[in-house]
Amino acid sequence: MITVIGAGRVGSAAAFEILRYKLSDVVLIDTNLNQAKGEALDMMQASPALEFDGTIEGTNDFSQMQDSELVIVTAGVARKPGMSRIDLMNTNAKIIRSISKNIVKYASDSKLMIVTNPVDIMTYLCYSETNFAPNHIFGMGNILDTMRFRSHIASELNVSREDTRALVIGEHGDFMVPLVEYASVSGIPLTNLLTTSQIEKIIQKTINSGSNVIKLKGNTAFAPASAIALMANAIITGRNRVMSVSTCLKGQYGQSNLSIGVPVVLGKTGIEKIIEIKLSDNSQEKFNASVTAIKTAIAALKNN
Ligand code: LAC
Repeated sequence: MITVIGAGRVGSAAAFEILRYKLSDVVLIDTNLNQAKGEALDMMQASPALEFDGTIEGTNDFSQMQDSELVIVTAGVARKPGMSRIDLMNTNAKIIRSISKNIVKYASDSKLMIVTNPVDIMTYLCYSETNFAPNHIFGMGNILDTMRFRSHIASELNVSREDTRALVIGEHGDFMVPLVEYASVSGIPLTNLLTTSQIEKIIQKTINSGSNVIKLKGNTAFAPASAIALMANAIITGRNRVMSVSTCLKGQYGQSNLSIGVPVVLGKTGIEKIIEIKLSDNSQEKFNASVTAIKTAIAALKNN
């Protein structure tokens, strides 16, 4: 069973994607009972078309998450136009602390995916609050950045998005690090296909992708929901997908006491392995800036 906490736009779209993959039964929890029930009912009515025969429950009762294999936390306040993800920190920290207590109480054996922004900080906070094993807790951020990076590469080259391969690491925010040295199209290095200035333009577009959607419609939903479902799929089916997720580091990449996006093998037990790769000098410098941004934010977390 998968529990999704937060029946807002991202949470309910993610639940729908999970049903579409027929991954497992879903419990959708929100403090707004009608919202949770209404979304679940709407999805249940879609189930024949999705060929989904399992259950989808909407509730405000946190005990319903008992026995979940995976808990996905999307609850929290979303960014308004002009706000950075960090601006949300102390409001969402309060929500995450309260949810952490329920997770410890009812689902201490589950894997935990944090989506609430600023995701790297909320993942680390949730890790500190729950004391989960570091491989059982991870944040969704860089896989979404990677999807955006890949779509921009495909558009620039007018090729199929499917043939693009890339990796974005670091903060899920303005300090993200799209790794040019590891981007390719069907194995052809990106640097063979595009000029430095074209690549720089793509990187800026990647960084601004979320904000550009928020400026137009006030929130992002389908892209983050698809990224959540990709991660959930890797875990529930044990596919050992390689992707960048926010991870509590214990010395890897020379870092500890934070959660930050790095490539991992994602499978049945959560993070099966953290993959340490060599970074170019430029990427290393950007990654260090990401670390500083996250650590500065963690230090400013209010104990509310
Ligand atoms: C985004 C939000 C989920 O990047 O951070 O769309």
